[in-house]
Amino acid sequence: KRFYRVDSMKDISFFDKGELARIQNAFVFEISWEVANKVGGIYTVLRSKANVTVDELGDQYCLLGPYKEHIARTEVEFVEFPRNSPYLTAVNKLRQNGFQVHTGRWLVDGNPQVVLFDVGSGAWKLHDYKRELWNSANIGIPWEDSECNDSMIFGFLVADFLQEFYKASDEEADQAPKIVAHFHEWLAGVGLIMLRVRHAEISTIFTTHATLLGRFLCAGNVDFYNNMDKINVDEEAGKRQIYHRYCMERAAAHLCHVFTTVSDITAFEAQHLLKRKPDLVTPNGLNVKKFAALHEFQNLHALAKDKINDFVRGHFYGHYDFDLDKTIYLFSAGRYEFMNKGVDMFIEALARLNHYLQATDSDKTVIAFMIFPTRTNNFNVDSLRGQAITKQLRDTIHDIQNHIGKRLYEVCLNGKIPRDDEILLAEERVKLKRCIYALQRTNLPPITTHNIVDDHIDPVLTTLRRCKLFNHKHDKVKAVFHPEFLSSTSPLLGMDYEEFVRGCHLGVFPSYYEPWGYTPAECTVMGIPSITTNLSGFGCFMQEHIADPMSYGIYVVDRRFRNPEESVQQLATFMFDFTKLNRRQRIIQRNRTERLSDLLDWRNLGMYYHQARRLALHRVFPEIAADESGGVGRFKYPRPISEPSSPSSSRGTTPHPSEHGSDADDDVDEEAEVKAISGQA
Ligand code: UDP
Ligand code: G6P
Ligand code: GLC
Repeated sequence: KRFYRVDSMKDISFFDKGELARIQNAFVFEISWEVANKVGGIYTVLRSKANVTVDELGDQYCLLGPYKEHIARTEVEFVEFPRNSPYLTAVNKLRQNGFQVHTGRWLVDGNPQVVLFDVGSGAWKLHDYKRELWNSANIGIPWEDSECNDSMIFGFLVADFLQEFYKASDEEADQAPKIVAHFHEWLAGVGLIMLRVRHAEISTIFTTHATLLGRFLCAGNVDFYNNMDKINVDEEAGKRQIYHRYCMERAAAHLCHVFTTVSDITAFEAQHLLKRKPDLVTPNGLNVKKFAALHEFQNLHALAKDKINDFVRGHFYGHYDFDLDKTIYLFSAGRYEFMNKGVDMFIEALARLNHYLQATDSDKTVIAFMIFPTRTNNFNVDSLRGQAITKQLRDTIHDIQNHIGKRLYEVCLNGKIPRDDEILLAEERVKLKRCIYALQRTNLPPITTHNIVDDHIDPVLTTLRRCKLFNHKHDKVKAVFHPEFLSSTSPLLGMDYEEFVRGCHLGVFPSYYEPWGYTPAECTVMGIPSITTNLSGFGCFMQEHIADPMSYGIYVVDRRFRNPEESVQQLATFMFDFTKLNRRQRIIQRNRTERLSDLLDWRNLGMYYHQARRLALHRVFPEIAADESGGVGRFKYPRPISEPSSPSSSRGTTPHPSEHGSDADDDVDEEAEVKAISGQA
């Protein structure tokens, strides 16, 4: 039985799901605020990793999170643990003490067990908890910080649960339990702190996915990367009124047996801001699913793009004078951290791209989607109207088409060829005219799909205004701001995020602060090229493993060693060059991008989590050897044999003179294609 292909995992690969852990009476818990609770990337870590972890550990693995009723109802199948299991004993103990605890299986690949704690049910203990934290760790939490209060109740419930679990599994088995409790991010840190100050015999890991101070400082216009070693951490945390949070984070980082983070760049940051060098870097993977047909992902791109096309027809009604076959869909998405996520740079670069396309009289149109949730008062009427008007036109044409068919049939049955006025009746013409007149508009196509609260100070809107990107007819770059996460039930853009990404051409994520950055990684495994930066964990990871990332559709903007103006220029040039690719070149590039999936698969990267657990066990039970295998080793993605696809300006030399003429492209033989494109065939 093989669960991993890496050699050092051989020792566990001969066992059934969880068998080895059962023999050793070993259990692994992962604890996070984002278990079955979607907030950002940590949710993606836990969700996508569940499958490989359950493959290794079976029911010796369990996730602990907060109970958020409205989300949990759709994410979790609630069931009780089997009788006589230490899980049930521990849960019941907490219930007897007056807390509400929900248990079940998370409805994601791997179906891991989850225990969710109702934080509200622990509110009555808040003062006791605060006192205990203060007495044992000297960390005081101000009463008005409700997020911290919640995280503290959560932490105490987790610590109580794990200690009860230890007792139960110690009583029921013939050898002492070996428990690893793996905590993610400061919000889960109190549980770890309490286990350590109470001297529980549990191995602890703390993985930080960012540092609090780093995130704050970067969002505040600080030259962060050049001054990291000079930052007075206590003073800066104090000035930002996050000193208590900083203390929680730093205490967890120092008290854990093994400290890890998601990338080298964040390891460096942690060393300076949290004053502990991580023991290990645990890069983030994804649950990569391979399709049976090699080019299935290309077909999915075309299908999803059709849906985006439909949205665009509606959104730009009355101004729809561009060719969708020559339209490039760019997008950026994530939590709304304007500067950290590089949205400022994206918009600046879009303005330049607009200028480049106009100045070169390009036949391409670019539509840039920005998906960043913020406060809104629902959809705006103009956006809804656009979709309604195009739907009405589609329905009317559909009806008329049916009637025409029937009439043609009747006339032809009589042995006649229909006259023109028998094909399209006068009243049908009127109906069509009505629809066409409804397509007229006096205003410009909206920038946002929703009414944004405080529209006048919203950073995306104010920057678009400053850069004069207003969706004029003469603009080659159009902007659409969707201030809500995508959902397949939306009446405007009824697609979920994954489908939307597949339908786009290029993801643009020019982050300034990005410990990992799942969004470009997700693009990669779906075969969609993306732009990232050398300040993101993902960007650096790709640069380290791939000889020439750009030829695989991973464009890395240099934000570390260039000034912002130079970075904007580089970003604009990347996007401009991308618009010059023709369809065949884009298809080839997507094929190459998708080939990188293995690099990001948890089946390989899960190895680092395994190592962290072994090291944590080793530090508590020295008789257990640490895994010294050195990780998955270096993946080597050489420069593709062929040169990167050349811009469309070389089209003249190709034997395929029409960019859109031949679309029998699904089985593109890359070598032949690249030769053809560069005129060597
Ligand atoms: N995401 C989503 N819907 C959207 C946009 C983003 O579900 O409309 C998800 C995306 O799939 C990714 C996560 O949000 O997994 C963002 O993670 P990332 O690591 O990029 O950033 P974070 O928010 O953690 O800083
Ligand atoms: C995929 C599909 C093709 C389609 C193409 C469009 O490769 O298999 O049938 O023509 O996507 O690519 P584009 O980059 O123009 O969206
Ligand atoms: C954090 C970071 C993000 C990372 C995610 C998962 O939220 O901001 O860059 O991808 O955690 O590790």
